[in-house]
Amino acid sequence: MGHTSRREFVKIMCISGAASSMAMTGCMGNSGADVNCGNVSAIPVGTLRGIGSDSVIIGRDSAGLYGMSALCTHAQCDMTSQGSVAPGNIYCQCHGSSFDNNGNPTAGPARSQLQHYAVTVSTTGVVTIHQSQQVDAAARTTVTVA
Ligand code: FES
Repeated sequence: MGHTSRREFVKIMCISGAASSMAMTGCMGNSGADVNCGNVSAIPVGTLRGIGSDSVIIGRDSAGLYGMSALCTHAQCDMTSQGSVAPGNIYCQCHGSSFDNNGNPTAGPARSQLQHYAVTVSTTGVVTIHQSQQVDAAARTTVTVA
């Protein structure tokens, strides 16, 4: 950990409020890639934030960190660009679906929960969503650093 690359600068554009000293990975589409979400110190309890270029959502509640797809389960609109992602308000403007903080549909045509992905925290506090690893919606990653 700790080395930097061009990808860091690209990734910074993917994360609102990004911390500056993070090891970064790709900023590509929702391709099953790992998504660097920045340092856990910038993801306090209560966070629910979209990472648009990767079509994922990072969240943290009292139990820990969790990651979800930002693709609406109705017809796959990316809610980071076609809707909104904020605490208490995951909304798809395509046809009006809404989801709660854990991705459960609460309104609109969507009937399925958002897909959850595994989240890890490195020894230096870097949070990564692993889109290749689907997990139960109740899964949380406890934070032991920062
Ligand atoms: S794609 Fe989201 S409500 Fe239809």
